[in-house]
Amino acid sequence: MFAALLLCLVGIAVAQRPQPCTTPPQWEGRVFDINEQQKFSLEGKLSYDAVYHRERIVDEIDEGSTADYYDVLSLFDSRVEFVYNFKARNCTRREIQRPWRDFGIRPTDRSYGEAYIGSSVFPSTGVLVTIWAGNFTLPSNDTIDYVSTWTYTGCLPVSRTTYSDKFGSSHLSFYDITVGISDPNVFIPRRECVSAEEWENRYALFDVPHKKIH
Ligand SMILES: *[C@@H]1O[C@H](CO)[C@@H](O)[C@H](O)[C@H]1NC(C)=O
Ligand SMILES: *[C@@H]1O[C@H](CO)[C@@H](O)[C@H](O)[C@H]1NC(C)=O
Ligand SMILES: *[C@@H]1O[C@H](CO)[C@@H](O)[C@H](O)[C@H]1NC(C)=O
Repeated sequence: MFAALLLCLVGIAVAQRPQPCTTPPQWEGRVFDINEQQKFSLEGKLSYDAVYHRERIVDEIDEGSTADYYDVLSLFDSRVEFVYNFKARNCTRREIQRPWRDFGIRPTDRSYGEAYIGSSVFPSTGVLVTIWAGNFTLPSNDTIDYVSTWTYTGCLPVSRTTYSDKFGSSHLSFYDITVGISDPNVFIPRRECVSAEEWENRYALFDVPHKKIH
């Protein structure tokens, strides 16, 4: 009897400890990122590939604004980034200094449970999310704390709030996520960003994962 009760309690305890879900490795979506302290905000479309550590963010252009808008392709395994400025119509190639950021739940993250964004009172008024917190340390030794949410069903990223003494707090939200990469050429640099010779060889140079790009 006691053993049965104990097993039952253990069963409940195990069932109640949320398990980290696995985010699809490739997806696309709209992102909105803001950091007041850094005077930084970004609204654009993100294509994300955790298999080969690459991402592309194309800013959403606000017609009539005098701000600069960019199309940024970041190839983290090659540590190179192509930054195209829509207004100046020029492209800068630069070395990536920051580490790859993974939008999946890390094994060291702590669960903050589950909750509905919106409400569960009526059908379609809320989305059930799983909430996890953790931290990572940059090469500069600054520690960044974060709390992130993913949809309970499908494990798709919903938001990430980060905080550090040095950079302040940022809030990143994801919308309208689709799984997979719709345009297979999205991780090829724009024509403006490469030489004629590189453009000729663009699939061999840029599409093959882990190729060294200089
Ligand atoms: C692109 O154009 C802007 C504005 O004219 C200029 O400040 C910048 O240096 C240019 N960058 C490159 C890589 O030519
Ligand atoms: C970072 O996360 C680890 C693992 O969850 C935790 O043990 C540690 O206390 C955290 N460090 C800071 C500075 O919050
Ligand atoms: C970061 O901390 C490690 C260990 O404490 C140290 O060896 C390294 O030099 C530090 N790096 C920077 C950029 O301060």
